[in-house]
Formats: sequence, C-alpha cells, structure tokens
Amino acid sequence: MTLLEIDRRPLTTDHRLSSIVHRPRRLRATPALRAMIRETELNARDFIYPLFVRHGTGRTAIGSMPGVYQLSVEEAVREAESAARSGVNAVILFGIPKEKDPIGLENFSENGIVQQAIRAIKKEIPEMVVVTDVCLCEYTDHGHCGILNTGEHFHVGLPEGYVLNDPTLDVLAKVSVSHAECGADIVAPSGMMDGMVTAIRAGLDFAGYENLPIMSYAVKYASSFYGPFRDAAEGAPKFGDRKSHQMDPANVREALREATLDVEEGADMLMVKPALAYLDVIRVVKDAYPELPMAAYNVSGEYSMVKATAQNGWVDEAKVTLETLTSIKRAGADVIITYHAVDAARWLK
Ligand code: PBG
Repeated sequence: MTLLEIDRRPLTTDHRLSSIVHRPRRLRATPALRAMIRETELNARDFIYPLFVRHGTGRTAIGSMPGVYQLSVEEAVREAESAARSGVNAVILFGIPKEKDPIGLENFSENGIVQQAIRAIKKEIPEMVVVTDVCLCEYTDHGHCGILNTGEHFHVGLPEGYVLNDPTLDVLAKVSVSHAECGADIVAPSGMMDGMVTAIRAGLDFAGYENLPIMSYAVKYASSFYGPFRDAAEGAPKFGDRKSHQMDPANVREALREATLDVEEGADMLMVKPALAYLDVIRVVKDAYPELPMAAYNVSGEYSMVKATAQNGWVDEAKVTLETLTSIKRAGADVIITYHAVDAARWLK
C-alpha cells in the first residue's frame, strides 16, 4: 500500500476504536488486576455472630433459620469456640428466660441465662468480644420491648398497652449493669426507647463501668424481616406491633435524627437495622458520622431468604452470601451482625 492509498482510506473500524479513550475493562482483565483495584474487602473480623442461649442442655434447631440453634450455655461456649477458630472475634447474645413476667425479671438477674453465658464464654475464650442485646421483649410475658401502660402503672393520656418510655429506661440501665458485672464487653440496647443511651450511660458510669462501650441500635425499623428471629428468641409481641417505638420503613430523615440523638447521648457505635432493605440508610448515617464505627444488622429474615433459595438450588449460597455481606460493607458498615458469620469466615479463607 502506498502512502497515498493509506491517506485515502475511508474511516475504518481502527479509527473508531482508537477514539475510545476510556476503557474500564483494562483494569478488569485479570484476577490480579481485579484484586488490586477492589474497593471493599470482607474480613472475618468484621462480623458479630448472634447466639441464642436458653436454659437446659443441648441445642434445638430453629425451623425458620436453618443452621441456627437455641443453645445451652455449654453449647454456646462451643459455638463461640468454633467462631473463634474461623476467625470471628465477636458474638452477640440473646437470652430465652425460664419464666416470663410483665417486667422481665430474669433480664437483670445475677443467674439469668445471658449472665451465665457471658461468664462462661469470657472464662473459656477471654479474647472473644461479647456483645449483649439489651431489650425487654424476650423476657416479658406480653412480648413487648418495655413496661406497658396498664394496671398500677397506668398513665392517663396514653393508650392502654402503650410501651412506657421512662419506666423502661430504668430496666434497661439495670440490665446493662448486670451484663457489665458478668464481663460483657459491649452493651447493645435495641428497644428504641427515647433517651436509652443516656440512661444506660448514667447507670453504667454510676456502677463504675465508664469504660464499657454502648453500641446503640440507633436506627431500627418496624420491619417484617424480624419474623424468624421472633421464633428463635421467642419474643413475638402477644398483641399489637412495635410501631410506637420502631421506625417507619418509609423514613430516612428521621434516621438521621435518631442517629444524631444517640451520638449526642454518647453512643460509641451506631447501628442500622435491618441491613439489606436499608442500604441507603446505612450510607446516609455513615456519611453524617464517618468518625463513628457503624454496625449493620443483617437480620433473620434476610438470612432465611438466602438459606431458603440456596436449599432449593436456585442460587449459590456461598457466593450470594458474600455478595450480600459485601454490599452491606460497601454501603458504609464497618461491622456486620450476621448469622452467616462463621460460614462466611470459612468461605473467605
Ligand atoms: C429485640 C431484637 C429483635 C431483633 C434483634 N433484637 C427483634 C425485634 O425487634 O422484634 C431482630 C433480629 C433479627 O431479626 O435477626 N430484642
């Protein structure tokens, strides 16, 4: 081909291609390149593994949560040990009491089920971070998250059966101190009472636990994704719902308000719950308070959906789980409370 002929060539594919400057695919060509530019990396240390502890011996399967059990104290220690072996450094404890009553007395009893479990886990695995859920719903006979407006406590002007805020705060502070006395490393109030961080901080400080961190379920929605948990923890409300304290799923500005209040009250970590249907909320809260470690709760219903589809062979459980957890971290969570913790930690190895 002469020079003249080259010049006369019509615009070819070659010319068009060389005008494409930006080619994101250049950095996706090999596994090594992809690994180099990966923005979000899951780690077993990101996870907090929930354990349900009950009186008695052995373990009981939870029908709606395949792979999750109600555990005796001994079994809870065993489960925590297996978590530690897989690289998971933290557990969160939920208790199923022997007896329930209107206040939930076992919740702050020295020999309550969670108190026993904290002592046993800290004795066997001192380096395990033991977080405790602080709420009333598993302990009260009515299944609500606080003291109800009824009988001798009746407050005129509030509906019958309304969850009373300030009387509940006293119980939450007592429960937190009781967990602290057994060696808990973090308390996590989940009841969505106004002023709960203030009340718990005051209670802990007064008892000499000014160094114990509070991870506040600051932004917790009245979600239908808690269904399987209520089987597991036997804490479903006997009547009504939780909408007078948990948030409306439609709201995000209100999430910022809840987070702000808990920061002002001295929360050391914030939590958004559930996680998957609320990834936007995680991002908004993280952007507002980047200096605070953020947790997100990948709740029971989210777990059970993955388990059910995987059991049907419709998705690859390991891949879908890791993708899900990555999305929560990418949205801004530093820490993820998840029933997948131990499996995910093994898959990451
Ligand atoms: C309250 C509490 C609940 C969950 C965690 N703490 C239940 C509720 O608010 O009704 C739900 C967690 C899950 O669904 O995995 N103690």
